[in-house]
Amino acid sequence: MDTRSRYLQEMGITQWVRRDAGFHPAPGIGAAQDLNTDANDLIQNDQLLADLLTQVETCRQCDLYRTRYMPVFGVGPVPANLMIVGEAPSAEDDRQGIPFVGRVGQLLDAMLLSIGFRREDVYVANALKCRPPDDRDPFAEELTHCNPFLLQQIERIQPKVILALGKAAVQSLLDTNESLDQLRNTGPAREVAGVSVIATYHPAYLLQSPGAKSESWKDLYRARQLLINGSSS
Ligand code: URA
Repeated sequence: MDTRSRYLQEMGITQWVRRDAGFHPAPGIGAAQDLNTDANDLIQNDQLLADLLTQVETCRQCDLYRTRYMPVFGVGPVPANLMIVGEAPSAEDDRQGIPFVGRVGQLLDAMLLSIGFRREDVYVANALKCRPPDDRDPFAEELTHCNPFLLQQIERIQPKVILALGKAAVQSLLDTNESLDQLRNTGPAREVAGVSVIATYHPAYLLQSPGAKSESWKDLYRARQLLINGSSS
């Protein structure tokens, strides 16, 4: 079985098998970056992001800096057509300074590949830059304090579409208390700073509830359609 078919299978998606099956990049994807490069080296190439990183490193607006090992700023090409926004770094991310490492990150990679993106083609960041202790859910005020960093990243990355993973990510982006189900796949895509936001389930949730993968696939497909056609229909 080829790589993409494996990822689609992982996503719980049945597909027609093509004779030329293989990796089919989504059109218009951003420049590739070597993920083995230290996350902060990538940022140093961009003065605005480098300045923003310094602000994140020295931020004391909430108490998370006391318990985190290091902030997890975000990584990926600048600009990038697709930006992923997760909730907050995990313990492993906190140690490495890179978002979505580990099993949850592997499922994110599968989700991306199912719509023709490799991780190195997209910019990946979180609503919260610092890991909450014991991986508890982010507090509303922590998200509020961190939100301006995320908005400045979006301004710099200039994505065409943002894929928001999970409730905290999408609520923070859209500044709303609506439920994830209200925000998923309903009506025209909402926007932040003029960028379409597609909400879907967090890969950590999908690992626990694999039955939701086919629903998530609809959101991913919608994001892909928006990128290709500028419309999700
Ligand atoms: N790792 C991240 O970077 N973000 C999440 O939301 C979960 C794990």
